[in-house]
Amino acid sequence: MAIDHAFLDELTARNDIVEVVSRYVVLKRQGANYFGLCPFHNEKSASFSVSPDKQIYHCFGCGAGGGVINFVMRAEGLEFRDAVQFLADRSGLKVPQDQMDAGAARRRERLLSLMKDAGRFYYDTLWQPEYAPMQQYFARRGLTKKTMNRFGLGYAPDSFHQTMDAMQKKGYTKEELVAAGLAVKNEKGAIYDKFRGRVMFPIIDVRGQVVAFGGRVMDDSKPKYLNSPETMIFHKGRNLFALNLAKKTTQDHFILAEGYMDVIALHQAGFDSAVASLGTALTEEQARMIARYTKKVIISYDADGAGQAAAQRAIDILKRADLQVNVLRIPGAKDPDEFIKAKGPDAFQRLIEHSEGHNAYRLDQIADKYDLTEDDQRIAFIQDAARMLAAIEGAVEREVYLGRTAKMAGITPEALQVEVRRALGIRRKQRSNAEHRTVRAVAQNVQPRDRMLRYPDIRSGRAEEGVLALLFTEPSLVPVIIKRLRPADFSAPVLAKIYTHALELEAQGLPVSIAGFEGYLEDGELALLSEILSRPLTALEGRQRALDDYIEIMEERRTQRMLEQPPCEGGEDPMITFSKMKAEKMGGK
Ligand code: UTP
Ligand code: MN
Repeated sequence: MAIDHAFLDELTARNDIVEVVSRYVVLKRQGANYFGLCPFHNEKSASFSVSPDKQIYHCFGCGAGGGVINFVMRAEGLEFRDAVQFLADRSGLKVPQDQMDAGAARRRERLLSLMKDAGRFYYDTLWQPEYAPMQQYFARRGLTKKTMNRFGLGYAPDSFHQTMDAMQKKGYTKEELVAAGLAVKNEKGAIYDKFRGRVMFPIIDVRGQVVAFGGRVMDDSKPKYLNSPETMIFHKGRNLFALNLAKKTTQDHFILAEGYMDVIALHQAGFDSAVASLGTALTEEQARMIARYTKKVIISYDADGAGQAAAQRAIDILKRADLQVNVLRIPGAKDPDEFIKAKGPDAFQRLIEHSEGHNAYRLDQIADKYDLTEDDQRIAFIQDAARMLAAIEGAVEREVYLGRTAKMAGITPEALQVEVRRALGIRRKQRSNAEHRTVRAVAQNVQPRDRMLRYPDIRSGRAEEGVLALLFTEPSLVPVIIKRLRPADFSAPVLAKIYTHALELEAQGLPVSIAGFEGYLEDGELALLSEILSRPLTALEGRQRALDDYIEIMEERRTQRMLEQPPCEGGEDPMITFSKMKAEKMGGK
């Protein structure tokens, strides 16, 4: 993964973080920094900051943070390498290839070619005469041969080794089959085929490469669908089924369905902009991927309770990606697949045309819970709906739905307005309480957010953070710090790791900046570093003094720790050492 640091430095120099972030977030200048609404979590007040000086971003709300490369990774849902490529492309740079990259790239290529061959194998298997029943399974579900080919559908033989044998014959190793998620290794070390006796749906990424499979049983056994695990080439939260086809649509909207079969049935019926998330709730990354191709999404989930609950969640996620969202309701059928089979494509087209905006949909969902002919239920409905109306951001939109709700409840808009104002008041108060709580929590929370990164000694850790902040922002102090501190002087492993790498950068004559740490630190570590660098710094004149203080604290704490935790090396019984120390301490008094 190591891309040469000098290159990363040049790359980040040519891709100003403020400029890059501005294409995703509306930023407003405030002092030395820019602020905006965090694209990585849902918020109403701007706690997402970008520092042009340090070239970092940091969200005070969710803790996300890093440099420009990390931002692109998250915003575009890319791996480190691809994010580097993305930034290189837009700034006209060529990414140097080194040995290690070549190794990882080669393994990736091998997996991709293995998946392609496996897809081919499943496809060929399906069309062998002995598997006619499997072909008929698809036919019974209404799929034409053309559709089956279009989606590359196949069949995995009911065997523990047939797929593996076929792939090994093509030169792939068992290890590669496991790495691709096509084979599984049990506790005893035995390796066998993962997909057995299932009809197979290849999952193809935007670039048209097979990256995973979904396999369905042909009877009622469980699990109905088995999906590829996360692998080097497959991250389910970053892929959408049929996006490779939907991205070419001429429609002005995407249709978001729940399942493989729904999407395939929709495409066959001419709705070529249908996609599905892969057996999981829609992720923010998937929403952003959709937003790259369209402005509008029509949610078409199953009509059952689970489907409707999932639709409510999907609305929020899609809205956050700035998409216009409609929700389609399927009368008298379970899912789009069944509806189209029963009523035909034209009827489905009418459902699309009559799909409601998400606010109307939510209002209807609320109304469905109450019997509006009963007075007490009507009152409950009004209160419930008022909360929903209060949550609508735009005043005009709120007004429109307020009128509609008043009509539904048979009261005047003025009376409803009172209820909504009250709900708005409660909402604002709750929000400001929540904000107050987070500020307090941040002040108290001295441990890093990422539990894996906890400091063994909080007070020393804080001082160590201070040293790092100076190292990154005060070039004149760099030689001083390097002379006075070794990595071993840091008590927190993560901070020692950062310091060690800073020394390496310095030794290579490179600046100690966040650019040198991207791709080297884990996400949580990078977020911690950007948080440390986002804190207000001591005034210029006081910095040497601050450094002295930090180092003094680190030394004090080290002595203290040595007293508290006697070394147990040398075979000495820690209990004896402990009592000896205690005796010494007491004697010293
Ligand atoms: P559904 O059960 O609604 O799927 O689950 P479907 O595509 O309509 O299935 P059939 O073939 O018509 O019966 C929706 C989606 O949830 C995931 C799959 O992606 C499926 O398409 N899923 C469902 C799983 O991953 N595993 C399961 O066991 C069930
Ligand atoms: Mn179905």
